[in-house]
Amino acid sequence: MTTSVYVRKARIQDVRPIHALLMDCSKQGLLLPRSFSQLYSHLRDFFVLAQDGGGVLGCCALSITWEDLAEVRSLAIVSEMRSRGWGRRLVEACLSEAVTLGIFRVFTLTYQTHFFEHLGFEVVSKDNLPQKVWADCLHCPKFPDCDEIAMSITLRPDCS
Ligand SMILES: CC(C)(COP(=O)(O)OP(=O)(O)OC[C@H]1O[C@@H](n2cnc3c(N)ncnc32)[C@H](O)[C@@H]1OP(=O)(O)O)[C@@H](O)C(=O)NCCC(=O)NCCS
Repeated sequence: MTTSVYVRKARIQDVRPIHALLMDCSKQGLLLPRSFSQLYSHLRDFFVLAQDGGGVLGCCALSITWEDLAEVRSLAIVSEMRSRGWGRRLVEACLSEAVTLGIFRVFTLTYQTHFFEHLGFEVVSKDNLPQKVWADCLHCPKFPDCDEIAMSITLRPDCS
């Protein structure tokens, strides 16, 4: 029997596996970890790659920054499931949600520039992002020497 894998909105039971996945990737320096407190507060931002019978194989969050701007963050796929299109599917779910919310500009701070270029994002100057973006950065261990690259995409209203 084959197990089915699909993208859906996160549920409260997903918090621990999301936390474990983000911790795992953060230990490799690929992204920033998120605390349980942050995950519970922002759970509604998250999509997960889920499999039948439970288990989280990936996650990605869309966080609203301002009236015309949102951020894709906390993107991770378990290593066994990479390069099968699931990262793209998770980001597309977030972009579609942004359009549904009426937000047409989405940015990310990332080391995975080639992956995001494939999805239509372009490198932008960090100076083009509003001050509000940097509020979270105050709590980042890398502050103020952030080496992540800022990228953004402008969406069309009909692409949800
Ligand atoms: C980055 C990551 C989420 C990508 O997910 P993935 O499922 O492996 O990527 P996909 O299979 O969906 O790839 C989507 C497209 O991007 C391309 N791509 C993926 N990774 C790429 C890379 N490093 N360089 C260039 N292209 C890449 C793929 O070829 C694919 O192109 P296609 O749709 O034309 O075939 C995954 O590798 C990961 O979890 N990495 C560790 C955590 C991390 O770095 N997160 C990013 C934090 S911002």
